[in-house]
Amino acid sequence: MRRGGAAFGSLGSLGHGRRVRVCAAAEVPESLRDIVQGVDHPGDSGVAPDVPPPWLDREKFERGQAFARKNFFSLAFAEVASLIINFLFPGELQPLIFTRRSATVYDSYERYLSTVNRVRTWYESDPWKVGSSAYQNMARVRGYHLAASRSISQLAQSDPDTLRLNTTFGLGPYNEAVWSGPQVERVCEDARASACPSDAVDAVLKDRDPVTRVPLNQFDMSLTQFAFSGLIATFPERFGLHGNLDRELDAFCHVWAAIGYSLGIEDRYNFNLGGLEATRRRTRDTLEFLVRPRLRTVNRDWEHMLRVLFEGLSLYIPGVSFDASLVYLMETVGVPPSRFAGQLARGPLLVANSLGFFLEGVMRVPSIRTWANQEVYANLRRANRQSAHWKEQARRRSYRYEYLPFPGRYQCS
Ligand code: HEM
Repeated sequence: MRRGGAAFGSLGSLGHGRRVRVCAAAEVPESLRDIVQGVDHPGDSGVAPDVPPPWLDREKFERGQAFARKNFFSLAFAEVASLIINFLFPGELQPLIFTRRSATVYDSYERYLSTVNRVRTWYESDPWKVGSSAYQNMARVRGYHLAASRSISQLAQSDPDTLRLNTTFGLGPYNEAVWSGPQVERVCEDARASACPSDAVDAVLKDRDPVTRVPLNQFDMSLTQFAFSGLIATFPERFGLHGNLDRELDAFCHVWAAIGYSLGIEDRYNFNLGGLEATRRRTRDTLEFLVRPRLRTVNRDWEHMLRVLFEGLSLYIPGVSFDASLVYLMETVGVPPSRFAGQLARGPLLVANSLGFFLEGVMRVPSIRTWANQEVYANLRRANRQSAHWKEQARRRSYRYEYLPFPGRYQCS
């Protein structure tokens, strides 16, 4: 199985047996050249909600939907693991911090449960049929995106300092509630050992400042398509999909190309247009030129939003762990987590190793795959039926992070 592979740059020798990474100046790769230009363009093209893309192949779309329903467990895990990647990009993370809809464990639980419920409808009904649940959710999500973009843009104009304060936990009144410890700095050290900086890409993205950036732009949208489809298309076995599935995976990429279109992504920025091969090429280049370098820049906002996300998920999917998923993801994308994993307790390491054993080994058995899917659907049904009493208790639960002293900044990046 091919995983993330080597980063651009090679190891040279300093003498005395010490090795340093020699970084060549890297250009933006061909497959991403258009997509990164999307940073300058608003994320919603304004396309009519009931008009399918002109290139839609209905039969392929429905085959891709059927594949997604049948493999929901694998898709869900790959999507959650991909958020570890997507939150490395300020354009993805800062709007979520700004709206404050997923900044605590309970809020995050509700936000992502709702997300899963909505995305599921895109695999179950016709998104262009007025009144279908897929259609309604497409409209609602576009509404959320437009509302968030509008409030960010307005604040950028009227009060840029407040916007900067409200898109990070580091500067505002939320310091005491930031879930961040010393371990994650090791992630950045691991990344430094296996990836070069991404100056060429950074020069195009210019994405650090929420005031000057176009909020929820076409690049951000494209990167979110990657989150829903890139890892699963490129490393299916890492996520429990076995056998020759290229035809199904190609159909699945078509589903995401079409969903992206209807959420307002223009064709030149569409991560999935061109099918499986194009998606895989873009995914590999994304990992090499954007993701591995960006793992050098992990910070407390990134860590907090992910820890509350994973803790929220664990309220309805027992055993989900941020540390274990991070180890697994780093291995998948080609950043060996030696320093990070080296200082974890035995529990998360055991979970990370078991993940590999289960997904790459046990999931080869078709009946286990069926069981895993049934389980994830059963968990969702239970979560959707939780009583008001249970929710109130979950909302009031307190977490260790609420009492953590304000930690220093990471030194590493
Ligand atoms: C293909 C691209 C995308 C898809 C499929 C997608 C999907 C979704 C879904 C399903 C929801 C509904 C969540 C709920 O029910 O509470 C949502 C809401 C939202 N999305 Fe997206 N999204 C995409 C891109 C983005 C991007 C690039 C951003 C930028 C950060 C973003 C920010 C938001 C925000 C701010 C909300 C409102 C809820 C909140 O404040 O957390 N989305 N999105």
